Amino acid sequence: MGELQLSNKVILITGALGTAGSRAVALFLQRGAKVAACDLKPVAGFDDLLGRFGEDALLYQQADCCDEQAVQQLIGCIRQHFGRLDGVYHNVYTNHAEAIAAQSLQNWEECLRGTLTSAFLVIKYAAALMGENGGGSIVSTSSVLGTIPRPHNAGYGAGKAGLEQLTRIAAYEYASRNIRVNAVVPGDFKSEQWLANMPESHRKNMQEITLLGRSGAPNEINEVAAFLLSDAASYVTGSLYPVTGGILH
Ligand SMILES: NC(=O)c1ccc[n+]([C@@H]2O[C@H](COP(=O)([O-])OP(=O)(O)OC[C@H]3O[C@@H](n4cnc5c(N)ncnc54)[C@H](O)[C@@H]3O)[C@@H](O)[C@H]2O)c1
Repeated sequence: MGELQLSNKVILITGALGTAGSRAVALFLQRGAKVAACDLKPVAGFDDLLGRFGEDALLYQQADCCDEQAVQQLIGCIRQHFGRLDGVYHNVYTNHAEAIAAQSLQNWEECLRGTLTSAFLVIKYAAALMGENGGGSIVSTSSVLGTIPRPHNAGYGAGKAGLEQLTRIAAYEYASRNIRVNAVVPGDFKSEQWLANMPESHRKNMQEITLLGRSGAPNEINEVAAFLLSDAASYVTGSLYPVTGGILH
């Protein structure tokens, strides 16, 4: 994939301190975007990027994307700082990897809240600001576990399945406001450091279950998100993009 232009687009990245999110902040800034980075955790690791791109291009906001008031405040900060919003890359999720028989109602609800409700809130309030500047593009990160059943993933898997239908419905509802809504659907990706020191059992498993025979790197997911956020994807909405290295089962 060649250089994709995100020039002057203001993009909100949630889960911005995570494996995918942190690399997306750097990648999108390099592509010319202005980035509002949000995470539950206090800011860390952005000094270098702030030095290179400046506060005009990078805003960090600590916020809980499952909290309606916090999301409203986050969007308010973006309006104040950048005056507009053109894109969202939503990476937040919660997973308690437990069997249904062992899962408490609280943990089940936390999974749905972190994985699905956060997307509902971010789409709702981000789209309102995007509508003010003529449209935009929203990309959420789903998972193959939204369609492939695996044990110990009930809350997360159901949340991701819900996120995929939310994506289609939001695409329908916001098309008239020129807001495209899509999702990327990763299989397995890990940090570069993790990939370099991967346990042999994981390497073997990925060799067996993917056509490309390996796990992905975070920017292999982020590149597809960058495409969907760019004007190159101007005719794409309501779509779910598998970025799995070809997971077959
Ligand atoms: N890593 C994988 O193999 C994989 C596979 C399939 C799908 N995914 C999906 O990709 C996305 C990114 O995954 P990752 O591995 O980079 O995740 P990660 O765990 O590395 O990062 C997630 C980030 O989200 C933040 N966060 C959690 N709850 C939040 C909240 N309520 N409000 C704000 N921030 C919150 C965390 O603090 C963390 O920094 C997720 O949606 C995940 O479900 C990941």
